Amino acid sequence: MPPRNHKDWIKKPKIEYVNSLIYSDRSLYEQEQKDIFSKVWVPMCHISEMRNKGDYRTTRIADKRVIAINMDGEHVQAYYNTNDIDYRTPAGTITYDGWATTEEPLHCEVKHGGMVWVTLDPNPTQSVEEWTCGAFDCIADAIDTEELEVFHYHKAIIDTNYKLWHDTNSEFYHDFMHYFNRVSGFNDEYFARKNIPFDNGHVNVSSFTVNYEEYDGFEDRGELSFPNLPPNQWYMVDLFPGYNFNLRGSAYRSDSVTPLGPNKVLIEFRGYGLRRDTEEERHTRIKHHNSIWGPFGRNLHEDLIGVAGQGTTMREGTEPRNILHGRHENSTIHDEVGMRHYYAEWSKWMQVDASNPALAA
Ligand SMILES: [Fe+2]
Repeated sequence: MPPRNHKDWIKKPKIEYVNSLIYSDRSLYEQEQKDIFSKVWVPMCHISEMRNKGDYRTTRIADKRVIAINMDGEHVQAYYNTNDIDYRTPAGTITYDGWATTEEPLHCEVKHGGMVWVTLDPNPTQSVEEWTCGAFDCIADAIDTEELEVFHYHKAIIDTNYKLWHDTNSEFYHDFMHYFNRVSGFNDEYFARKNIPFDNGHVNVSSFTVNYEEYDGFEDRGELSFPNLPPNQWYMVDLFPGYNFNLRGSAYRSDSVTPLGPNKVLIEFRGYGLRRDTEEERHTRIKHHNSIWGPFGRNLHEDLIGVAGQGTTMREGTEPRNILHGRHENSTIHDEVGMRHYYAEWSKWMQVDASNPALAA
């Protein structure tokens, strides 16, 4: 096949695709804040970060400052952060009780392994359980049997669109980029894994057995695998519009995105163990987590470099082009069914066709 020229690049494909304007257009970004992020349930933090009365966490949802506070040692409430709490400080303890009397609480639930969920929708039509539509069922016994505890937090601000972070967690063609995964995971079970769509745009990537010991210097992780799962499994829950839950045998990770512009996203990464871990178990879990997902681990920074590269080519003002989501492989791991499912949902919420943003959906 001869090299493609400019005309070839801008041709419309015959199969499924999205237009790159959805990653770079400022008015679409602003509409997403209003039509999506102001309405969905957002997993903003974890209950183990705020166990005591007065403990709080802050975030921004649809460009609004939001704070979740442990009101009495047991119950968490969320509010618009209109008082003096510095939103740039993501955590702390409040020493006064002024919130409940001055502000209307936002809808807030603690659900799915102790995540604190908040929505700006004043009248949500679905509970968190209804919103997630069974997407957590595959790991429910692992994350809801025993209390979890956050042992790791870091954040990254990347020049890319938030949807590209979701994409990297839901399409596995990019897995060939990860040397560690090629060595430890590309077995028969890996290629038979399924992408399973759920209502509201969510997707599961089903499990397989990772052979950690195949990677030089790594050990089997079966002994510390999360409860009620076979050892060394790996599950991924991808929630619309951009929250990911990644269970890799002995460590669990959540990613929460806060879009900061069409080509800028804040991603918060949390790592979890079991609250009852002994000191030695926790030490091993942290080592397992960091070796894959820490700043000097194998995989996470490779994903970040990948989406930053995509962001460079799709920043504001760049020429739109069409991006294929056309792989059909019986919903197995490299089938892009998860991407198609996500962007069908996005088109519905936005009333915009993701493959032709100039047209209404
Ligand atoms: Fe990856």
